[in-house]
Amino acid sequence: MTSGATPLGLGVLASGRGSNLQAILDACARPGFPARVVVVISDRERAQALERARAAGVEARFINPKDFADREAFDLALVREFTARQVGLVCSAGFMRILSPVFVRAFAGRVVGVHPALLPAFPGLHAQRQALAYGVRVAGATVHFVDDGVDTGPIILQASVPVHPDDTEETLSARILLEEHRLYPDAIRLFAEGRLTIAGRKVLIR
Ligand code: GRF
Repeated sequence: MTSGATPLGLGVLASGRGSNLQAILDACARPGFPARVVVVISDRERAQALERARAAGVEARFINPKDFADREAFDLALVREFTARQVGLVCSAGFMRILSPVFVRAFAGRVVGVHPALLPAFPGLHAQRQALAYGVRVAGATVHFVDDGVDTGPIILQASVPVHPDDTEETLSARILLEEHRLYPDAIRLFAEGRLTIAGRKVLIR
């Protein structure tokens, strides 16, 4: 970011612990980082992510999916909240709901997510457990644009980690998580600096 430029406004979606949110908040606090979190929204009232947002002085909102007739109605409420705050990039960070096409269309090319596997391997839930069960020797993390599918959007950044013979789901998850925390702010910086172009399945980085 050139000095004086307005930082990109981030809207973060999180359902739980919020360690990726924390990595994003920490990055945004660094001088010169070209983005800042304007709101964190959770579908779970007691999500630790909401506490992390408040501790960082960021607006934290619980939106109860049960208050809406269906998934689209809930997602439209999310669209309204983000639009009202001029959010330029939505970051899904441990958000345990699939975003519907109405949301993805409203923020086309402006939604990113993190997944604890080297996509396209092991999409969906329990990626680390899937990797261990499959017997892979290398696992990793992916930050990608979000599309209508489950972990199918164009890949922005990936990092690999070794799988050790004595790994458990917990030890492997912890090793991957460190990479998620590194990659996510890097990808946000690239987006905020206007250096990412989606070309079909590929993301070009300038
Ligand atoms: C991360 O591993 C993320 O990739 C996965 O769920 C975990 C969320 O962790 N989808 P946190 O809430 O960011 O700590």
